[in-house]
Amino acid sequence: MSTTTTTTTTTTTSIIVALLAIVVGGGIVALISPSFWISHDGTTATNSFWMMDGSRQNNNDNDRWEVETIQYAHRFRKRAVAREEEEEEEEEEKEDDDDRTTNETMMITPLQDVVVLITGATSGIGKELALWMFSKGATVIAMGRSTTKLEQLKQQAENQLVVVNNNNNIERLDEEEEEVNRRIIPIVSDFTDLTSVANAVHTMKKKSQQQTMESSSSSDYDFPDHIDIVVCNAGIHLGLSTFWDPYQVTQQGYDLVFGVNYLSHFLLTELLLDKTTFLERSNYPRIVHVTSTFHFAVDGSDLQQQHTTTTTTPVVDSVHEQIKLDPPTASLPGGSHGFVVSRSQRQYANSKLAQILHARYYQRKYPNITSYTACPSWVGTQIIQAHQDSLEARIFRSMAFPANGYGLSSILRSMLVTDTTTTTTTTTTTATTDNNNNNNNGLKDDFFINNKLSMAGPMLDDMLTKHPWIRKLTYQWLPIRDAMMFCAAMVLLHWQRVAPSVEPSRSSKASYDPQLQDELYQWSRQAIQEWLD
Ligand SMILES: NC(=O)c1ccc[n+]([C@@H]2O[C@H](COP(=O)([O-])OP(=O)(O)OC[C@H]3O[C@@H](n4cnc5c(N)ncnc54)[C@H](OP(=O)(O)O)[C@@H]3O)[C@@H](O)[C@H]2O)c1
Repeated sequence: MSTTTTTTTTTTTSIIVALLAIVVGGGIVALISPSFWISHDGTTATNSFWMMDGSRQNNNDNDRWEVETIQYAHRFRKRAVAREEEEEEEEEEKEDDDDRTTNETMMITPLQDVVVLITGATSGIGKELALWMFSKGATVIAMGRSTTKLEQLKQQAENQLVVVNNNNNIERLDEEEEEVNRRIIPIVSDFTDLTSVANAVHTMKKKSQQQTMESSSSSDYDFPDHIDIVVCNAGIHLGLSTFWDPYQVTQQGYDLVFGVNYLSHFLLTELLLDKTTFLERSNYPRIVHVTSTFHFAVDGSDLQQQHTTTTTTPVVDSVHEQIKLDPPTASLPGGSHGFVVSRSQRQYANSKLAQILHARYYQRKYPNITSYTACPSWVGTQIIQAHQDSLEARIFRSMAFPANGYGLSSILRSMLVTDTTTTTTTTTTTATTDNNNNNNNGLKDDFFINNKLSMAGPMLDDMLTKHPWIRKLTYQWLPIRDAMMFCAAMVLLHWQRVAPSVEPSRSSKASYDPQLQDELYQWSRQAIQEWLD
């Protein structure tokens, strides 16, 4: 009896000590972390930061990315809004200066008449992206699962206008409300259910058609007849919850993370292209996937066809008269067969890799649609699933990039960069890279990052995929790749502010594999067939 009591006491003490060590250790690491002290929005401890060359620079200079993004926005609009009068204007402007506008209004609202659809527009990155685009004059189709949150977004957009117009007459409030109603269009859709995604597209199509039929609709505001940019942003990461609830699924029974982050976006884009003319009617259509450097944590095998499972010979589906493909492991409840500790990491990474494969497939299938991917590095949002005011969440936010600032930089760049060249912006140097150049061993640089440290991803990937047996050893037999990626992500969190840099980079080798792209596309197309018919 006394032995049992002693063992229990020892175990309890060990757990308390371990927990204390994690809390104290985490606190110390946070305090010595450069990201804790170096600010990107001027709201934390210091107002200046260390440059790569060792000098210190005032934080205001850091807003340069935003100024440059506005210039990109202006150039993007020139391509997207090629109405006749605009073309005339353009001709005149070209004579003055190709890249700069003398028109002050254009600099305040450089995205006027540009239409952007953002998924997950009610929190974190998506919400701030929606507000940024709105503040620059764009019309935002905001997709979210909560009507209340969509209303809150509209309210915030309205407040933004009030702030902008603070020195003007308060009587303009009615116009502001009208402006918000016209330029923020809420669309409700729950990405755990493919039917809900299909219904959302159907609603948009109906609204647009009604618009055309009754050109002067009395109550409704104009619904756009085209979309210039689709941003696939909605996303989840199950974090520690996979320990107690590893097999969460969507309405259709797919792995929850795979379903929300990838398959719903796949259906959305396919429907937009198959069933509507929204993208077709844009002069400069673009699809951007908000993905993650974390996709380097997986090697692509979970997204392959499972040739070794039940189906050895392809089955012909008599209804659709096509080959019935086996689901990739990543789509099944629980995702990768991998190790329990790294389950949520693999689920998330597989969904992010699937998004990149999807984008690359589109690059081949729809050369007239620009298809890019971007990683915002660590951004202080709800993605870590911690309670907003918990200590964990506060420490994380203090080190991560802000969602209403630099955390949007790589996504905005991928949304607005015009196709021939992309400027690499660091706080220290500016270099120009031809985006069509195939760098990094012939692999295209079209995955936008905002941090030089993210470039360790391709190096890690090269190392772990050098030989098939290394690949197997580090991913299938032992969780080496998972551990290395977890550590790399932690280093990135603590050091990312030291090397801010918005540029296109290389994604993992698997993401360039045309066979994997084709297989995943074909299976996904089969999985969503019901909503296409
Ligand atoms: N934060 C980072 O450090 C980081 C790093 C790399 C990549 N990313 C990517 O950035 C994207 C945005 O993430 P975030 O950091 O802004 O996270 P977040 O604050 O949690 O926002 C996620 C968004 O997705 C929406 N969403 C979640 N489940 C949904 C569902 N079932 N149906 C419809 N919408 C749903 C959320 O809606 P509600 O508002 O209703 O919750 C929210 O608007 C994600 O794709 C994520 O993978 C984030």
